Amino acid sequence: MRQDHLITATQLSRDDIEAVLDRARAVADDPAAYADRHAGRVLALCFFEPSTRTRMSFDSAAKRLGMNTIDMGDVDSSSVSKGESLSDTVRVIEGYADALVLRHPSEGAATLAGERVDVPVVNAGDGAGQHPSQTLLDLHTIREDHGLDDLTIGVMGDLKYGRTVHSLAAALTEFDANQHFISPESLRLPRSVRFDLHETGAQIREHDDLEPVLDELDVLYVTRIQKERFPDENEYHRVAGEYQIDAETLADAPDDLTVMHPLPRVDEIAPDVDETDHARYFEQAHNGIPVRMALLDTLLENANPDGDKETEV
Ligand code: CP
Repeated sequence: MRQDHLITATQLSRDDIEAVLDRARAVADDPAAYADRHAGRVLALCFFEPSTRTRMSFDSAAKRLGMNTIDMGDVDSSSVSKGESLSDTVRVIEGYADALVLRHPSEGAATLAGERVDVPVVNAGDGAGQHPSQTLLDLHTIREDHGLDDLTIGVMGDLKYGRTVHSLAAALTEFDANQHFISPESLRLPRSVRFDLHETGAQIREHDDLEPVLDELDVLYVTRIQKERFPDENEYHRVAGEYQIDAETLADAPDDLTVMHPLPRVDEIAPDVDETDHARYFEQAHNGIPVRMALLDTLLENANPDGDKETEV
């Protein structure tokens, strides 16, 4: 991967994805080999929206590479609350850090940040836009179970506002994947995402119900209805709870079906699924460590081509 920033999954070629995932596998197999690779470097965590997994796994991943981290903290306790622009904020923070992870409620925020600063920027979620580092750990999880070619995946839930869906769907076009999208009519993929998928020649189909496609699937990727993105709360309540699975739903599923979820979940996957052999969402979240280590290592290597690191994947 020869990129300065990771802003969108659409910028990733198959080779880029496989290089990061190969490196993630190497990290997972021998984490000690990576322990001091970026000693003395600093990662800035800039989260303008809540996060548990992304913020903490980037923090942990950086520290496992020997880095220190600095955290902007809550928006209310930063100078954003005084009216500072995103552009000024990131231009200041790039002077404090060697790379920057940004989550923001506005689509395009990471693109803007990437244009303003010279250190690597990772888009950790921009509104309903993209969440490409989540996609890398999703692909790592899928690859470990099924490989990435000749894959049939069902993506269910909030396809309109779900940024993990938009990134994953784009990345899967680099592979030989059949993609089934299952949602209520009002939460179908945005027109622009569907257009981009069609442009690549991707095999996609849209459905109201899971049941007709369940027995074809290798992976069922369930997402939360993104309540915080609905302009009208009544509209959220009309669709909330419509797409839920439990152990009974999966009774006739293929034995090797992998059930994933970017988390957090609300009620779309019942706790009894956790006890089935299908559940992979906690491992998926844990895969954030080797994958984000591999990603940071790659971006920092690109930014410092004359650095002293030796491992090439
Ligand atoms: N999957 C994910 O992005 O989780 P967080 O919102 O907790 O970071």
